[in-house]
Amino acid sequence: MGSEVKVLTIEGSTRIVGIIGDPVDHSISPRMHNAAFAELGLDFAYVPFPTSASQLRAAMRSISALGLAGFNVTVPFKTSCMRYLDKLSDAAKTIGAVNTVYREKDKLVGDNTDASGFHQALLANGVRPRGKRVLVIGAGGSARAVLYALTRSGASDIVIANRTLSKARKLAREFGGEKARLQTADLDILDDFDFLESRQLVVNCTSVGLGGGSFLDYAAESTAEDCVHFDLAYGEEATPFLRLAADASRPVIDGRHMLLHQGAAAFKIFTGRRAPVEVMAKAIGL
Ligand code: ATR
Repeated sequence: MGSEVKVLTIEGSTRIVGIIGDPVDHSISPRMHNAAFAELGLDFAYVPFPTSASQLRAAMRSISALGLAGFNVTVPFKTSCMRYLDKLSDAAKTIGAVNTVYREKDKLVGDNTDASGFHQALLANGVRPRGKRVLVIGAGGSARAVLYALTRSGASDIVIANRTLSKARKLAREFGGEKARLQTADLDILDDFDFLESRQLVVNCTSVGLGGGSFLDYAAESTAEDCVHFDLAYGEEATPFLRLAADASRPVIDGRHMLLHQGAAAFKIFTGRRAPVEVMAKAIGL
């Protein structure tokens, strides 16, 4: 006997949440959240809101006007949306990006669940960041969320490698401190046997090779045998970074795991209910 398929119905009472971005037609967040609403029988629906940069201000204003319960923000508005918000969480402020917005009385509050999503994705895959020696590749917006999570969860030795070294140095200054030792390097370190041997977790925060090319000159086989490789990106097939890791028989985690757990945290914010993570995972093919 097959399992019962739960269907979402929209009524006059249905509370609307959604995602603002450009583009959003590729987003699998609606599928993930709507599966969760149906599973718990919640009177919510999650819809995509394709928004152009020139309409961002109007779109943000319409949230309260239309009575939306909350929404996610994706590329390219995670930073530019912040000026329209009344309040920001510590994570949103420190990372400098918002991916989840909700209403608190008449105020719009911005939060960032990418960092906690990354942390939860590690834990769910049996990786405890405390004391870990980590290599973070990239120094853009997504690296900031990863560094926020790693420095607060006790990773003790973090090296940021980036094509533009000055950007890596800026992040090391911002996120480093007494508790977390942050060092920087250029991309030559991706081929440095002695260094790679010491890594227990490597996180790719670049989009290199996603358009169909290859990844950087990276010697995955030089890392410790149980060194976990996490790519924030994901696609129909394994990303070029994770292909290198898999070819070297290293454990891998792809970006859908972070998507899942940032979504579960947003779901809790929107509904006040604990997210049915397994149903959400299934909805996005995990
Ligand atoms: P995101 O928000 O996804 O982090 P981003 O802020 O544009 O995106 O950052 C992209 C990251 O990928 C940066 O670290 C960038 O390196 P630079 O800081 O030197 O620009 C890195 N990146 C992008 N294309 C790259 C390439 N072809 N080779 C090496 N690094 C690249």
